Amino acid sequence: MGGSPLLLTIMITLSAFFSETESTSFEIVNNCNYTIWPGLRSTGSSLNLSTTGFTLRSGASFNLSVPKSWTGQVWGRTLCNESSTGNFSCFTADCGTGKVECDGNGAIPPATFAEFELNNFGSGVDYYDVSLVTGFNLPMVVEPRGAGSNHCISSGCSADLNGDCPKELRVAREGSQGTVACMTPCTAFNNSRFCCTGEYSTPASCSGTVYTDYFKQRCPKAYTYAFDLTPYANQTTFTYSCATANYSVVFCPISLPAETQAETPAKEPTVSEQVPSKSKNHTIMIASIASSAGIIIFILAVVAGLWSSRRKRQQG
Ligand SMILES: *[C@@H]1O[C@H](CO)[C@@H](O)[C@H](O)[C@H]1NC(C)=O
Ligand SMILES: *[C@@H]1O[C@H](CO)[C@@H](O)[C@H](O)[C@H]1NC(C)=O
Ligand SMILES: *[C@@H]1O[C@H](CO)[C@@H](O)[C@H](O)[C@H]1NC(C)=O
Ligand SMILES: *[C@@H]1O[C@H](CO)[C@@H](O)[C@H](O)[C@H]1NC(C)=O
Ligand SMILES: *[C@@H]1O[C@H](CO)[C@@H](O)[C@H](O)[C@H]1NC(C)=O
Ligand SMILES: *[C@@H]1O[C@H](CO)[C@@H](O)[C@H](O)[C@H]1NC(C)=O
Ligand SMILES: *[C@@H]1O[C@H](CO)[C@@H](O)[C@H](O)[C@H]1NC(C)=O
Ligand SMILES: *[C@@H]1O[C@H](CO)[C@@H](O)[C@H](O)[C@H]1NC(C)=O
Repeated sequence: MGGSPLLLTIMITLSAFFSETESTSFEIVNNCNYTIWPGLRSTGSSLNLSTTGFTLRSGASFNLSVPKSWTGQVWGRTLCNESSTGNFSCFTADCGTGKVECDGNGAIPPATFAEFELNNFGSGVDYYDVSLVTGFNLPMVVEPRGAGSNHCISSGCSADLNGDCPKELRVAREGSQGTVACMTPCTAFNNSRFCCTGEYSTPASCSGTVYTDYFKQRCPKAYTYAFDLTPYANQTTFTYSCATANYSVVFCPISLPAETQAETPAKEPTVSEQVPSKSKNHTIMIASIASSAGIIIFILAVVAGLWSSRRKRQQG
């Protein structure tokens, strides 16, 4: 008798996880006054998208249907061209394929990117954020859209850091005026203090620096460094989560939606709170759980943990 509710929960969880009939819509918008080349990469075992890279002219938008449990990244390449031999490359955020499609490759830093974990472990809750952990190349924001998204917070950076990037972090390009990207101090100096490695590999030992303060001040609603625990980016409180929404990914947004909206805390997901902290780590994401077998075992463990803790609560 005791086993059947457990079995039922497992069945429900698994069927929710594998149900890919529903999909989420992404609207990718280029508000920059120059052409960009968005790149998309699926991570973990999630399904591939119908495109991994395309051209998006100034003022244009592109709609994309994304599987309900997709995990991955979206970024924007700039200053791209094709050589006379047909080799396509970009000065910022290139993916190194020699063509417009990124075919599973990620962006070469520095690159602003959005990361998504849709329908996290079948919970119905999406996690997302705009990250500057590999640096900045253009302003970008992720805005939840549609029914049920009114309490969800947009993540991103509407400021153009290329204009005031600290001198030692600037990336310039011969022939173009000004800065075209802004490196992280880790990339620029490659030392453990700025990279949060070695003796600085814990949140307590790798608190902010003058550089992280700069990124945070300019982009309060972006995830700016490995142990970013500032209010909007707080990894332990799931600031950027939303149940059943579609998303606009906007490059060079005019500005982020009003801060007052951000003051409303996101609805706390109940199931995902129980997911071990590993899944909450934006930098690790789900990529580490590569095989479906691993995922099934993981879900079983989570469900079993949930069930037994519920039982304990009922007993106690
Ligand atoms: C794009 O906008 C920037 C800043 O608003 C401006 O400096 C630049 O001249 C514009 N470029 C073009 C091609 O319109
Ligand atoms: C994309 O979808 C949005 C919302 O559904 C719609 O307003 C917009 O016109 C669509 N854009 C394109 C290029 O189809
Ligand atoms: C294409 O261009 C990139 C960047 O300029 C370069 O690194 C790469 O070697 C080139 N590939 C080929 C096949 O020419
Ligand atoms: C094409 O882009 C590459 C990399 O950004 C750059 O080195 C090269 O000068 C560009 N070529 C032209 C013709 O613009
Ligand atoms: C997804 O795309 C990558 C890179 O092109 C490829 O290696 C992989 O086999 C694809 N996966 C599926 C399920 O099609
Ligand atoms: C998301 O977009 C799809 C297709 O455009 C639509 O059917 C669905 O209702 C939308 N979802 C929400 C939560 O608005
Ligand atoms: C960064 O420094 C470490 C050792 O301090 C070295 O192993 C690594 O190759 C360096 N990386 C770069 C990109 O210079
Ligand atoms: C982040 O969340 C944790 C857990 O809720 C909380 O203790 C901490 O104060 C938060 N940090 C900030 C900066 O809000």
